Amino acid sequence: MRTLQVSLADRSYPIYIDRGALSAGVLRQHVRASQVLLVTNETVAPLYLDVLMKNLEGLQVDVLQLPDGEKFKTLAVLESIFDQLLEKKHSRTTTLIALGGGVVGDMVGFAAACYQRGVDFIQVPTTLLAQVDSSVGGKTAVNHPRGKNMIGAFYQPKAVIIDVDVLSSLPSREFAAGVAEVIKYGLIRDVDFYHWLQANLDALMARDPDVLAEAILRSCQNKAEVVAADETEQGNRALLNLGHTFGHAIETATGYTELLHGEAVAVGMVMAAEMSADLGWLARKDVDAIRTLIGRAGLPVAPPPSVSVSRCRELMSLDKKVHDGALRLVLMRAIGESIVTADYPPEALNTLLARCCAAGE
Ligand code: NAD
Ligand code: GLY
Repeated sequence: MRTLQVSLADRSYPIYIDRGALSAGVLRQHVRASQVLLVTNETVAPLYLDVLMKNLEGLQVDVLQLPDGEKFKTLAVLESIFDQLLEKKHSRTTTLIALGGGVVGDMVGFAAACYQRGVDFIQVPTTLLAQVDSSVGGKTAVNHPRGKNMIGAFYQPKAVIIDVDVLSSLPSREFAAGVAEVIKYGLIRDVDFYHWLQANLDALMARDPDVLAEAILRSCQNKAEVVAADETEQGNRALLNLGHTFGHAIETATGYTELLHGEAVAVGMVMAAEMSADLGWLARKDVDAIRTLIGRAGLPVAPPPSVSVSRCRELMSLDKKVHDGALRLVLMRAIGESIVTADYPPEALNTLLARCCAAGE
């Protein structure tokens, strides 16, 4: 079992990564008392619920299956978690377990942060995106009709248990969307990992278990280091949003229907690389290499034709990274060296959008 630590003083926790980790027995070690609420969804339950349940024999284990999909990441569905906890008389020493992708993980984490002012929770992520990003670092939330992840809390899990084998059932598009977040770590702070990905991408896309485990480990190492240094995003944690400002604008402009989040981030990373080159920070050959790597993962490298310059600009101006009217962007000084900055000429952004997005309203 490969084990990493997220170092946050008395809130530190381990990340376990292995083939077969679901049945390896580590889960039980992190359940504090006799009650567990295991929350999953209707897609993941038939695949992995039984194997997880075998770890929990002898405990009071209640199971809640949520409907599947981002549109159910709401306060109303969150309430169904509280209903279940109260109906089954869960006390303050209960443990919530999130078995699923980022939607389940973010919701269960937020439920754990709120129930009786905070109970334990364990992340068992089952998508690549959740394994390399959302399950680590303690960002928890639900959506509000006016904005994604607008109601939430920073609340760390007690452990993250990553079973590489569960990725075998993940649809290809979902898998590739997770690879976008893996590539992100190479681009923001780990040039060696970037080169490793260039060499191993084909094996990664073929879901070679050893290559997958290595990619997940190195991604989680990067995420754990960033989170340990800046848990609540006062500074460098924002680097984890490389490609996200462009990506969110594209997701919103397309009504969340055309691209998965990781696909939109992939496009956004290419746009950030392009703009970094326009500013003279990144070599053009590096932009081409980034585009090639992202394309090899089966990810899009340009916004869909329906995304216009004016809509993209308008949506970017609403981004959470606007401070005092200035839009901060994550840009690259070199591969593996990103910065968060508002220090760029406004024309640079206009030029980029004019080049990448469709003309018109
Ligand atoms: P998701 O949770 O919707 O999962 C994608 C699909 O895969 C779903 O249909 C799910 O049921 C299915 N699935 C999950 N595991 C499977 C498996 N092993 N086999 C087959 N199907 C499986 O999406 P996601 O990409 O995992 O997460 C996206 C969410 O994560 C968004 O809500 C986003 O806001 C959030 N997020 C949070 C953070 C954070 O730091 N907390 C970071 C990034 C994203
Ligand atoms: N996914 C961005 C973060 O955890 O900060």
